[in-house]
Amino acid sequence: MKNREKRKLLSDDYIEMKKNGEKITMITAYSCPQAMVAEEAGIDSILVGDSLGMVELGYSDTIPVTMEDMLIHLKAVVRGAPSTHIMVDMPFMSYHVSVEQAITNAGILYQSGRADSVKLEGGQDKAAVINAIYRAGMPVCGHIGLTPQTAALLGGFKVQGKTLDAAKKLIDDALAVQDAGAFMIVLEAIPMNLAALITEKLSIPTIGIGGGVSCDGQVLVFHDMMGLYRKFTPKFVKVYADLHDVMKKAVEDYADDVRSGRFPDDEHSFTMKKEIIDKLSKIV
Ligand code: KIV
Repeated sequence: MKNREKRKLLSDDYIEMKKNGEKITMITAYSCPQAMVAEEAGIDSILVGDSLGMVELGYSDTIPVTMEDMLIHLKAVVRGAPSTHIMVDMPFMSYHVSVEQAITNAGILYQSGRADSVKLEGGQDKAAVINAIYRAGMPVCGHIGLTPQTAALLGGFKVQGKTLDAAKKLIDDALAVQDAGAFMIVLEAIPMNLAALITEKLSIPTIGIGGGVSCDGQVLVFHDMMGLYRKFTPKFVKVYADLHDVMKKAVEDYADDVRSGRFPDDEHSFTMKKEIIDKLSKIV
């Protein structure tokens, strides 16, 4: 919401934005300084994604991420962006065992972590879980298409929904997620014309990441758009800054200054009276 008053947006605000044709902006963040940047830039929602595992913790995928990891990073983000809606991912195996387990873990992220909403991956297969969390009083966002937690069953990190059957299933998944009570849904790596059709069919907003321009909003991973994650850059990522190179140059300059004695200079050092240091050198 451009030039919006500084208050957290709630589920109804996002649905209103969809009705008004106002695009929703979302970015991931995992730390207090990243959250501060996002809030100062006026972003509509911050996602503490389980992409945390890959971009911050150095894992090759999101599978090893735990509730404990999510909670630590969620709390840091909440402290950094007190006026922004903070959504948090439920990590792998935190909502798969039973509906009771899913409510308990969503409750921990919502109550102890102070997330404003939780996100989980899955369509018709997760409708009962979404509905139970929603009925327990917590806003839920769905996530369909390329779902990284189950990428192994989807042929890897690939565009989804390209055949008639796969596209039809994604539409049914989106409707099931909406009917279960979700207030928003992420569409990841699906053809733009299929995302447009899903967006038109739903009354809740769609947030695209590799879903094309017709989605009601967009999300990007902080490290991808800042040039901080270089292992792999999906086609849908637009790199807005090259912070890796900026930071590397700063560290190189610092190391050069230390090695050559240029740092620390007088400006970055403390002084004391000459008489005191003279006296001191006589007694030690
Ligand atoms: O974990 C994450 O960052 C996500 C986004 C890619 C939507 O789920």
